[in-house]
Amino acid sequence: MPPCGCHFLGVEDYSRQWWLNLLQLAGAIKRGEVQFPNPSPIKVLGLLFSKPSTRTRVSFAVAMGRLGGQTLDLPPSSTQVGRGESIADTARVLSRYVDALAIRTFAQKDLEAYAQASTIPIINALSDAEHPCQAIADFLTLQECFSRLDGLTMAYIGDGNNVAHSLLLCGALLGVHLRVATPKGYGPDPAVVQRAKQLSQGRCTVALFHDPVEACRGAQAVYTDVWSSMGQEEAAQQRRRDFSGYCLNGKLLAEAERDAIVLHCLPAHRGEEISAEVLEGAASRVFLQAENRLHGQQALLATLLGLV
Ligand code: CP
Ligand code: NVA
Repeated sequence: MPPCGCHFLGVEDYSRQWWLNLLQLAGAIKRGEVQFPNPSPIKVLGLLFSKPSTRTRVSFAVAMGRLGGQTLDLPPSSTQVGRGESIADTARVLSRYVDALAIRTFAQKDLEAYAQASTIPIINALSDAEHPCQAIADFLTLQECFSRLDGLTMAYIGDGNNVAHSLLLCGALLGVHLRVATPKGYGPDPAVVQRAKQLSQGRCTVALFHDPVEACRGAQAVYTDVWSSMGQEEAAQQRRRDFSGYCLNGKLLAEAERDAIVLHCLPAHRGEEISAEVLEGAASRVFLQAENRLHGQQALLATLLGLV
């Protein structure tokens, strides 16, 4: 069997039109406008998570249930891949049992190795490089709040990490201006920034800042994420010092547009990257965004599993 050509390893795997269709489907699913007949035989999504997860794991499980399927937990620590069986052999075997795999891991190249050897869709459920499933919910939320995407401006304040990368790439495809403010030495990967500029095709701009105030000016959405991602725990103390001027608090939010919304992929550290006041405040759409993980991933699974 040849490798499957319908993976979701990163934002760039699909076109602007694919993303627009996906967001439209997610919205329709959320409004209850799409029904899914129970697939026969039932579809199974394997979850291979090497890092903790609440939202991604549970939203995938519930989304599969709503599609008439189910998930199977396959933690690497209790499968043979944790004892050195190759990714290629694991992918080939699992392709014969389940219909798709959602993988949360460190290296993007491990996801690519799974994709190379599998004959089923491989979904990036977060890697050090990207968090494309999160981006679905982020832009679904933006669209829901403003009834459009083209021409909106999002400011991302904090670490130039996986979440920032997916926002940059997806924003470029969807016509959302991205303004990313990070401390020196913590900017997004220059190759991703370059790629986002190419993908934007003149629809929108990509701008990097060190001053969070400057980045927030005129933004309709202000987004932040943790200062230390999973796997960076040992550097947390240093990072706390380096990011100290980058807390999304009321003063910073006041620099954005009057109707600006606040987004955070969660989990949040109140008093670090975001103040409790802002997280719980009137502008916060953080829990709507978390809910949208479910509708967005249901649309993704329906698309990749051929249920629509
Ligand atoms: N935002 C997000 O991916 O959350 P989890 O780590 O809980 O899955
Ligand atoms: N950047 C964070 C996102 C968590 C959902 C991390 O990788 O830990």
